[in-house]
Amino acid sequence: MFNLRQFAAIVPEWYVRLHYHDELDSTNDEAHRLASEGGEHGLVVLADHQRAGRGRRGASWVSEPGDGLLFSVVIRPDSPKSKWSRMALAAGVGIVTALNERWAAQAQVKWPNDIYIRGRKCGGILAEASEDFVIVGVGLNVFATPPADHSTIPAISLGEVVGETLSREMVLAVVLDGLMREIDACEVGFKGLLLKLREICYLTGKEVRFVSGEEIRAGEVAGIDAQGNLLVNEKGVITPYSQAAEIRIIGR
Ligand code: BTN
Repeated sequence: MFNLRQFAAIVPEWYVRLHYHDELDSTNDEAHRLASEGGEHGLVVLADHQRAGRGRRGASWVSEPGDGLLFSVVIRPDSPKSKWSRMALAAGVGIVTALNERWAAQAQVKWPNDIYIRGRKCGGILAEASEDFVIVGVGLNVFATPPADHSTIPAISLGEVVGETLSREMVLAVVLDGLMREIDACEVGFKGLLLKLREICYLTGKEVRFVSGEEIRAGEVAGIDAQGNLLVNEKGVITPYSQAAEIRIIGR
């Protein structure tokens, strides 16, 4: 069980914005419902367990109660909608930076916003935009990884790499601070976010195979461009792929 009293003692400013549930279908859906009723920027929905947790591209997100953190944050951007995809990048950079600053976790962002440690997935982000808000949903493995049959992607938990006893209350406090700091900063300027993303980009320099439309393609990741697109070098031709291009990296 998530200890609300402990969380309130660590970060009272987040506690007042937290809506906690033992169980929900999906924290993203509940955050969406609350935001539709006027829920403010920075409102957080946390659940110990999700009956129907969702991942990107229609995948499910499975986690046993108490193993990790499942939460969603309501974001009400000031920027025009054309720039809202930056929020998902900012969330990944914010969480990874916070984990590295607090626990030297050597976490990285697998573009666009998966959280990787030692080449394995430690968390994922599902950002969903509505008419006037974005819901940023985060699943983070803290003590254990999802059941082995759930995904073919190798997984890791934060607890496996951090040499101190963790509490989910402390981890949530740290990652919320990091996520919100980066989201608010990217409203002011995108350059700082890009610099950090390039530093912690897991894919840069790696050979990748990826699905683009109906095609399976291959190339070496050359970096991230000024718009936050992934640059892939395919036989000397560098192509930028946007988050909207829905490319899917295979086998990493
Ligand atoms: C991914 O890697 O595919 C993204 C996973 C996002 C999972 C989180 S768990 C909390 C929030 N609620 C959901 O239903 N999904 C996100």
